[in-house]
Amino acid sequence: MQPLSNQTLEAIGKLVMQYPQPKSAIVPILHVLQKELWSINLDVLSFVSDMLSLPLLEVESVASFYPDFSRTQVARYDIRVCRSIACGMQESNRVAEILLHKLGCPAFGLPSADNNYSVDFCECLACCDQGPNVKINHAVFHKITPEKANAFVEYIKNEFLYNEPSS
Ligand code: FES
Repeated sequence: MQPLSNQTLEAIGKLVMQYPQPKSAIVPILHVLQKELWSINLDVLSFVSDMLSLPLLEVESVASFYPDFSRTQVARYDIRVCRSIACGMQESNRVAEILLHKLGCPAFGLPSADNNYSVDFCECLACCDQGPNVKINHAVFHKITPEKANAFVEYIKNEFLYNEPSS
């Protein structure tokens, strides 16, 4: 696991002190770690397990229960374009192509050179009547048509850098 910033170590230390039951600290600590590391892999789970003196399996079962914790995020902003039928019929594939190229990603699922963006597809986000839908980390954005995709790229570049997206 890559070294953590002092800010993150400090935040984790506070959370450990705040929760008398170590198990209660798992979720808040994972949120802090995901913010810095982007994804929760086995190394991260082992780190939390060691820190809280809890079995790895217990930490893993909590992490896997919550869809908020990504195992696959490869960039600061994990952009997923819905390709299921309702969004697909509104040309979400064209939206994905525009985002991919304008954000400088070499291919779907690979990060931009600055590691800020990755673009890939996802399945239905359960808001089909508002498509095409795009998810960035945990925020979902609606009605991102091919015509609006260029403006959406500018919005992403201007609004999100170093902030958590919120729709
Ligand atoms: S088809 Fe895209 S949100 Fe359901």
